[in-house]
Amino acid sequence: MAISPVPRIAVIVVAAGSGTRLSAGAPKAFVGLDEHTILWHALQSVVRAPAAQVIVVAPADRVGDAQTDVREVAGDRADLISVVAGGATRQASVNAGRLAVWPDVEIVLVHDAARALTPPEVFARVIGAVEGGAAAAIPTLPVIDTIKRVDGERIVGVVDRSELAAAQTPQGFARLIFDAAYESSDVEFTDDAALIAESGHDVVSVAGDTLAFKITTPPDLDRARHLVSPALAVPARSSAGPRIGVGTDVHAFAGDGTLWLAGLEWPGEAPLSGHSDGDAVAHAIVDALLSAAGLGDIGTHFGVDRPEFSGAHADAFLARTRELLLAEGWRIGNVSVQVQAVRPRFSVRRVEAEAALSAALGGASVSVSATTTDGLGFTGRGEGVAATAVAFLLPA
Ligand code: CTP
Ligand code: MG
Repeated sequence: MAISPVPRIAVIVVAAGSGTRLSAGAPKAFVGLDEHTILWHALQSVVRAPAAQVIVVAPADRVGDAQTDVREVAGDRADLISVVAGGATRQASVNAGRLAVWPDVEIVLVHDAARALTPPEVFARVIGAVEGGAAAAIPTLPVIDTIKRVDGERIVGVVDRSELAAAQTPQGFARLIFDAAYESSDVEFTDDAALIAESGHDVVSVAGDTLAFKITTPPDLDRARHLVSPALAVPARSSAGPRIGVGTDVHAFAGDGTLWLAGLEWPGEAPLSGHSDGDAVAHAIVDALLSAAGLGDIGTHFGVDRPEFSGAHADAFLARTRELLLAEGWRIGNVSVQVQAVRPRFSVRRVEAEAALSAALGGASVSVSATTTDGLGFTGRGEGVAATAVAFLLPA
């Protein structure tokens, strides 16, 4: 880790939000991008900044999780990073971090953990501007869209976009000005630069970076996952023509509740174990589709680090898989899946299962067949269910 021993710069990483707009089943900073959390990724750049001190602000009940990420990223320099509990608003969380800044720090940076892929160069530009004498410096990007002023549904004017910029983080401040502004303000702002400007100081702008986007909504999360996943970093391969893929899944009967299989609930049947609902049929289809597209496997996209998929049913897995394929330029030709199971009896609900799986895949043709393996093996003994799927993809 490149934290410098000079105690001059502190970085406050705010990670205490709940992530309501993301709705990913966990506080945003603790949602996985790959096998690592958003916070873990954010810390990668933070520890490359020449900071003496890093303060992570986490939800009160996630301080331990944040410390785990800190230890993983910082190793034997983890003592330079402290974790404090945040507040009800972003500003309250920044203030909680501010109160932990060491006395001899002269420059404070505030960074959103949600801007997890911010390159280290953005930190360097912000630090450079404050070291050069600015009271405050923030990274910005030009606004690309044409902006309108609206009143309800009516357009009431145009806004000259050359006067506008989108603000990012990290935002950097001379420590004394930052402290004074926070100590005197009781107005709530969405970023720290607004608070500093309110107290009469100039804020300068440095170049931001498109990679410093804030993960706010589910599409932002998909974009960030694409960017960090080696399997997805390859360009779209749909020009290669039709592709087939194969997938297998096995789950044991275990636990309480009802069985979910092939996208259907089976009242009265024993449930299968698994991170989600244990639907081996759906999971085999996901693997077949992903392997056909060369996009890794179910663990790459839906592993235990994705809390939003714990307890999820086939429709969520299949719909997300279809989105991933579409993003890479593929449409689904057809899917064929075979189930090995003594129970449940598929024959009576086969058509229903095919319709449910097809609907989850946007109407693609899905056929389901079932076999009982003549009493042989774990499926024949009724200990679990196995499924094998083949998927055929065409360029979209
Ligand atoms: N943040 C924080 N404490 C809060 C609210 C927000 O530390 N009480 C942090 C978030 O963790 C995030 C950054 O401020 O890194 C930017 O906030 P935002 O994107 O709005 O995150 P959330 O508040 O978590 O999301 P939402 O508004 O959708 O609930
Ligand atoms: Mg928020």
